[in-house]
Amino acid sequence: MSLADLRKDYSLAGLLEKDLARDPFRQFEKWFQEAEAAKLHEPNAMTLATAGADGRPSARTVLLKGLDGRGFVFYTHYESHKGRDLAANARATLVFPWVGLERQVIVAGPVARVAREESAAYFHSRPHASQLAAWASAQDTIISGRATLEAGFKAVEKKYAGREVPLPPHWGGYRLSPESVEFWQGRRSRLHDRLRYHREPNGDWTVERISP
Ligand SMILES: Cc1cc2nc3c(=O)[nH]c(=O)nc-3n(C[C@H](O)[C@H](O)[C@H](O)COP(=O)(O)O)c2cc1C
Repeated sequence: MSLADLRKDYSLAGLLEKDLARDPFRQFEKWFQEAEAAKLHEPNAMTLATAGADGRPSARTVLLKGLDGRGFVFYTHYESHKGRDLAANARATLVFPWVGLERQVIVAGPVARVAREESAAYFHSRPHASQLAAWASAQDTIISGRATLEAGFKAVEKKYAGREVPLPPHWGGYRLSPESVEFWQGRRSRLHDRLRYHREPNGDWTVERISP
């Protein structure tokens, strides 16, 4: 394998100021619909980057499960690595790597837990096995082997047989309220388009073009 030979000139589209929607939520929805129409695999998969009190960055993929004028919502274990990071430093960055469309969206801002009712509504919309798994997995803790995980699953399966699985106290959603949202479109000769929305203190959005 020669990584040096993996070179590509991007030419699918351009992104001009006049084409942008009024706010980044509408622009995101437009690009998201285009990602779905292009049949990109799991376009709601995004990289979530956090940093804890020690300043060390960490990143992982999570799924976008909600979006409205308030922000971008994902669900996870509150005591995981990301959960601990966010408890110490409630800011994060999301990256949507829509490489098949030569696009990337980067969203940054403060993060807060969603209301318990909102987490409960989403939790109960999930498949039964996923609900059980949220009880069975202490995300990011070291376990002795796969058998431990499966035994834990069997135990909760038995415990909640024939009744509603309650929302675990350690599980729920986070909402990232964007302060900036950057839309990146690959262009020829590395002269890419980067347009970044920035939220002003009065709530208005301004757009800046960023050098690629
Ligand atoms: C495609 C994909 C989607 C994922 N979606 C989620 C998710 O929505 N929530 C979640 O907690 N973990 C999700 N994961 C697992 C995370 O990447 C990660 O392994 C887990 O959350 C533990 O992360 P942490 O220990 O850094 O907090 C997903 C992984 C992949 C590859």
